[in-house]
Amino acid sequence: MASLKSFASDGLTGEPVIPGDKSISHRALMLGASAVGETKIRGLLEAGDIMATAGALRLLGAEIERSEGDPPIWRVWGRGTGGLAEPSTVLDLGNAGTGARLLMGLLASHPFTSVLTGDASLRARPMKRVIDPLIRMGANFTARQGGRLPVTVNGTDQLLPGHEILQVASAQVKSAILLAGLNTNGKTTVVEPRPSRDHTELLLRHFGAEIEMIDEADGRRRITITGYPELKGAEVTVPADISSAAFPMVGALLVPGSKVMLRRVGINPLRSGLLQTLEEMGGKIEISSSQDQGGEAYADLAVEHGPLSGVTVPAGRAPSMIDEYPILAMAAACADGPTRFEGVGELRVKESDRLSAIAEGLEACGVRVEEGEDSLVIHGIGAAPKGGALVQSKLDHRIAMSFLMLGAATVEPISIDDDEPIGTSYPGFVDMMNGIGARIETGEAAS
Ligand code: S3P
Repeated sequence: MASLKSFASDGLTGEPVIPGDKSISHRALMLGASAVGETKIRGLLEAGDIMATAGALRLLGAEIERSEGDPPIWRVWGRGTGGLAEPSTVLDLGNAGTGARLLMGLLASHPFTSVLTGDASLRARPMKRVIDPLIRMGANFTARQGGRLPVTVNGTDQLLPGHEILQVASAQVKSAILLAGLNTNGKTTVVEPRPSRDHTELLLRHFGAEIEMIDEADGRRRITITGYPELKGAEVTVPADISSAAFPMVGALLVPGSKVMLRRVGINPLRSGLLQTLEEMGGKIEISSSQDQGGEAYADLAVEHGPLSGVTVPAGRAPSMIDEYPILAMAAACADGPTRFEGVGELRVKESDRLSAIAEGLEACGVRVEEGEDSLVIHGIGAAPKGGALVQSKLDHRIAMSFLMLGAATVEPISIDDDEPIGTSYPGFVDMMNGIGARIETGEAAS
């Protein structure tokens, strides 16, 4: 682990390469492993979280290979619905919450025992929200206090179809239940209070499952999967990850003289709340060449520096930009007037407690912040703050990258204590950013 220091940039310009979407990459591997025949994935994210999921799926009997090429193609030879094999050792998902939670769903409907664990961040995250509905379907779990990892899954191929009404709009919980419904006789239904990202549903359909999504008049979404589909190996093209594109995007908005082009970025409407928010703040973002692949929309985004104004981000928008609040907070710190995040309590149970990590880091950089239990107000002053702080990454890639981006705009450089978490979603981030004009330097290696 090493520290990184980000100095003021003279402008971010160019076409940075944005890695593949993390959410879609996890799902493409899992569905490939659950399908019959070969799945070919282009644009798979080659980062720690996805390699952890690939490693777990190999231990469960799937064959997964990377072939050289530009871009490389990942090939998966699956075992068919319900065909995963008992792993010979513990499945270590590292930092990957999506990997762990979605796998629990898959494993619940397989008649063997598996043990899942992860790094210190993942072992601190709540799993009860996934475990409880799967127990109601008939699986057995043993977890640490508070439903934390390591978790033992005692699955069964005799699950009862689920009917779950979720309290929180969580794509991970929804997906775990739908994946458990794959190897379960009958129809499994999940009702979400508001639609969350629908990559699982779109990809399940792409692999041949029967899945129905109905938007109800009160804003809820009802999703039903029919069990025992014959999933067939498929071709998947993964768009660039909007959650990763968000870093150069906001960096370019903040640093004078910047203009960047971000190609083939996934703009699934259930993921693109950040674009709407930045546009409301006055951000210059032009969307062009919109296309669709396997139900997933993507487009090119041209972003240019300009002044931003503070806004209120309503609670209802949170599911569509849940991972983008840390980087949005950096934009808010430079915007004119207060920016209010409402209904963001979920940020407390991400890779770190992101509300307190943002508040602590910004305050150290000279920004006034009001932290509520599930809200945050950031008082921007219409200019970049002073900076000059050492910010703790807290095992959280998005906190680390967000503060490095703020450092590109602040008067004094901003350091982060630990660069390692960045590799979970965006290996090559520092080189890519420096390639377009950032000035991020490696500091001391710490033990
Ligand atoms: C994800 C869903 C979100 C998000 C996470 C990825 C997914 O989590 O924060 O980074 O791929 O399904 P929740 O479902 O817990 O909101």
